[in-house]
Amino acid sequence: MCGIVGVVGFGDKKQELIDGLKLLEYRGYDSAGVAVAKDGRIEVVKRKGKIAVLERALGRADLHATVGIGHTRWATHGAPSDANAHPHLDCKRRFAVVHNGIIENYLPLKEELLAKGHKFTSQTDTEVIVHLFEELYDGDMFSTLEEVVSRLEGAFALCLISSEEPERLVAARKGSPLVIGMAEDKYIFASDITPILRYTKKVIYLDDYDLVDCSPSRLRITNRGRGKEIKIDEVSWDISQAQRCGHPHFMLKEIHEQPGVIRRLLALHVKDGKVVFPELEGIDPLSVSRLYVVGCGTAYHAGLVGRYVFERIAGLPVEIDVASEWRYRDLVLDPQGMCLAISQSGETADTLAAVERFKDLGIRTVAVCNVVGSSLTRMVDATILTHAGIEISVASTKAYIAQLTILYLLALYIAQLRGRDISGYLQEFDAVPSAVSVVIENKAEYQRLAKHHHHFGSFLYLGRNLDYPTALEGALKLKEISYIPAEGYPAGEMKHGPIALIDEYRAVVCIATDSFIYDKMFSNIEEIKSRRGKTIILASAGNERIGKEMKEVVYVPKVHELFSPIVNIVPLQLFAYYVAVMRGCDVDQPRNLAKSVTVE
Ligand code: AGP
Repeated sequence: MCGIVGVVGFGDKKQELIDGLKLLEYRGYDSAGVAVAKDGRIEVVKRKGKIAVLERALGRADLHATVGIGHTRWATHGAPSDANAHPHLDCKRRFAVVHNGIIENYLPLKEELLAKGHKFTSQTDTEVIVHLFEELYDGDMFSTLEEVVSRLEGAFALCLISSEEPERLVAARKGSPLVIGMAEDKYIFASDITPILRYTKKVIYLDDYDLVDCSPSRLRITNRGRGKEIKIDEVSWDISQAQRCGHPHFMLKEIHEQPGVIRRLLALHVKDGKVVFPELEGIDPLSVSRLYVVGCGTAYHAGLVGRYVFERIAGLPVEIDVASEWRYRDLVLDPQGMCLAISQSGETADTLAAVERFKDLGIRTVAVCNVVGSSLTRMVDATILTHAGIEISVASTKAYIAQLTILYLLALYIAQLRGRDISGYLQEFDAVPSAVSVVIENKAEYQRLAKHHHHFGSFLYLGRNLDYPTALEGALKLKEISYIPAEGYPAGEMKHGPIALIDEYRAVVCIATDSFIYDKMFSNIEEIKSRRGKTIILASAGNERIGKEMKEVVYVPKVHELFSPIVNIVPLQLFAYYVAVMRGCDVDQPRNLAKSVTVE
């Protein structure tokens, strides 16, 4: 959560910082601020609200300077307010800091600093950093930073500037992401690479315990007191991926990109009728006795689909839990098992902590991740990239489709290694991107459905077997962007309690595409109908019977039932999108949420 940006190199910091923050706004958007070191003092402007509010407040301010820092916040300690917005200043306003993460020992530090006479102006944990810096300042920003960081517990990525040394920015990373872009005339510090892309594709991914000393003429990085060789990576992402390209929202744009994402991954991993995963070179998949799948939210739902797929086509046992549970369980593990961690951002704190536990217990770890160079990719034994491109909308769509595609391919790969014939499955897989395109072309149908249902006060989403996770994911999409209570449920469980909820005011989305379990699902729908629930049914094209017997049936192209989760989630994404638009919600930046959940 929270996005930080810093720029070193003379220029208009107002523009540079605001442009950068806009690209990081998806990480948090309850308040924002910027600071520059200029004319012997720190100029700071910060406001509650989105970046647009800050931009208006900055008006015509002249922020030409050599160093500047900015922040967009997702509140943890202290409600969203001007005072709690970053950057935070010390008592004499000589230093300014922006921070992403949580300082866990901020209370004892604050007490200590208060006793020494420091005056605090916010309720944040972050403010202790800058007062501690003031307390320990020895005339040199870098050596002071070393001292300060040695006193901090918890997670942090931070950038700090000083009016005493207005050409210098110091930064530190432990547990929260920070990347440096190396452009010709400036260094750009940011929580992810998107603000950097407009200047350069050359980046340095910082590691935990890295400390950075940066001025226009020099960049120095140390780790645990030792100088570190600077490793520059070249990123392939393009800045156009961070633009809406004519779509009203990033979410709709990203939904449209999904067929291309599946095609790209199939082209990368299927060669001459065989599934290939060069990424797994150092791992012998045949020695893997079971998978321990870890993820949060949408990534967890992808893993749930994966469980059915691995079991069915590869005969591989799968255990799955949300990362926030894995990390605190008393794990009884098979040493031959392997942890498969799924994450779009690669920065989700719970997922990282769960993976750390598997590593501590000597279990092999593989990441399925969208962000090159993210923390997750740098802690695991191997990474399979999902290549979905930058995902900006807080509600994940194309990253989910990419995760599913990789999990299917991985299951097919293991099945192939186990000597199973996968050629039929591969043929069926080829038809999936076009089926997804057909659903998207039919978006007016989901707009119509949304028009008829956006006033419902609550929704149930039902599915069975492979489409039970689809029900969970469809419900998550609806609740996170439209704020309508929505619950996903395995349809067979309804009779054990939730059916009591059904009446004429309950909208029930039923996933009933063709599968071996279709008849059972149909009976469950009958049970809802006879209790006057308002059903919306997703069925396979050609199923005329259901169209005759039920109202509000929408059809999706028929694909092999194994692949139905990849197709069936798309109508639910579109439905949630249009409901949110009709309710006037902020689709790409829903309230209370942030794209990367980098705190526990
Ligand atoms: C999805 O729409 C959510 N915004 C959220 O559940 C997300 O999938 C979750 O926070 C995990 O994020 P990650 O994939 O970046 O780890």
